[in-house]
Amino acid sequence: MPSYQNILSNRYTLARSWTLEVAERAGAYQQARKALTSMTPDQIKAEVKAANIRGRGGAGFPAGMKWGFLAPKKEGQEVYLVINADEGEPGTFKDRTIMEKDPHRLIEGCIIAMYAIGAHKCWIYVRCELVLAIARLEAAIREAHARGFLGARPFGKEHALDIHVHPGAGAYICGEETSLLNSLEGKRGEPRLKPPFPAVKGAFGMPTIVNNVETISAVPDVVAMGGEAWSNISLLPPEMKDGGTRLYGISGHVKRPGVYEAPVGITMRELIYDFGGGMLHPDRKLKGVIPGGSSTPVLREQDKVEAKDPKHPLNKWHGKSHLDVPMAVDTYRGIGTMLGTCCAIVMDTSVSMVEASRNLMKFYAHESCGQCTPCREGTGWLANVLDQIAAGRGKPSDVDLLVDISNNMMGNTICALADGTAMPMLAFVRKFRKEFLEAAEKGLPQSARLDEAIRSQLVR
Ligand code: NAI
Ligand code: SF4
Repeated sequence: MPSYQNILSNRYTLARSWTLEVAERAGAYQQARKALTSMTPDQIKAEVKAANIRGRGGAGFPAGMKWGFLAPKKEGQEVYLVINADEGEPGTFKDRTIMEKDPHRLIEGCIIAMYAIGAHKCWIYVRCELVLAIARLEAAIREAHARGFLGARPFGKEHALDIHVHPGAGAYICGEETSLLNSLEGKRGEPRLKPPFPAVKGAFGMPTIVNNVETISAVPDVVAMGGEAWSNISLLPPEMKDGGTRLYGISGHVKRPGVYEAPVGITMRELIYDFGGGMLHPDRKLKGVIPGGSSTPVLREQDKVEAKDPKHPLNKWHGKSHLDVPMAVDTYRGIGTMLGTCCAIVMDTSVSMVEASRNLMKFYAHESCGQCTPCREGTGWLANVLDQIAAGRGKPSDVDLLVDISNNMMGNTICALADGTAMPMLAFVRKFRKEFLEAAEKGLPQSARLDEAIRSQLVR
């Protein structure tokens, strides 16, 4: 197992790590104290910007830039911080480790972030199934209040701070930030048209920063070591502006599924073979890997980097396998996929890609909120066509129909769910076309059923 320094997860292995007593003894809240007593909000924002944190929720938007978009406060306006802890992406289970094992890290990050952006109130919107995470966060908030880290004068500073945990109701779409805000406001969980972005008009019509759990949990260490030093933990050159350390998840057909911390820029090969312990069944080869949650297009070992522009940063990896490209937001875009939530699902040669995609499409059809016709109808069609293929009622032209439907969904909807359905579908068909054509002619045998290692990740 490679030995990179654990920063975000450094308290995970302590006994009762989720309690204030243990977390504080191991350094929790020192950075919040430092930030509130000796730094200005602008200084904190500058450090977060220098840290080059690409949002850890999946989109990879620079966190420092997002904070910079906050609309200036008008008379009578408040600014809010909302933490997206909905973590509904199939195959993704990293944020829950922070909330369950080190909730005080997230709360400390929230304290610093609220002070920096001028907010007094924060909601942590947590997926309701994460019962333990909710209980530990609520207990940690109570402890932080009792110690004077939250409340009217945190650390003696005249900047009241309050954090509320808001359990969601388990809808995947409520992980989309504007849908989450609607749900928080007690409305139907449907995405809003953007712009305006939440930073301009968010919760209850107020400027709101919505950040992912892991993104905010990085803030205390950014304050501790300074933004530039934090950014430089990344294995990528600084000009790629993808800094720091992050939590990588790995599941499916590997020996050691789990969540591991490593710098930005390790490769998928390292994640699978060094952290994940290699393929679960040594006699079966790697067939494909969904790199960052189910919305990200599948990768194969035999696909090679083609960097046509010699100035493109990917040129350095020209001719190498996709598994050997550093895992980062822009490098993965360059090879036609996305880093997403950085939680990979590994599939060996036993997996039917028709069945894997059928499971996924059924999930999306179920979770589409139904506002946009291309998404509501498209996700349902994809699932239906795949059902027909699987049942032996398909025809070869159905494979092109899958492509057609997907192409008509992309870029035509309010939120990213439709694109996040169409892009993986297109990649499955492009990379495993022969398998789809065969299934369209013969149907799928019973043996194509997904085993538990894959089914538990692809279906929520
Ligand atoms: P996005 O790219 O539209 O936005 C990313 C963030 O940047 C948002 O907070 C947005 O408000 C902000 N932003 C972008 N442009 C801005 C501007 N001009 N001004 C101010 N703020 C701006 O992506 P989106 O739709 O928020 O996220 C999609 C991604 O979410 C997918 O790629 C997928 O990987 C991920 N995802 C993660 C899930 C999870 O469980 N963690 C679940 C489902 C999807
Ligand atoms: Fe709803 Fe789909 Fe439209 Fe998103 S793309 S708003 S999930 S119908």
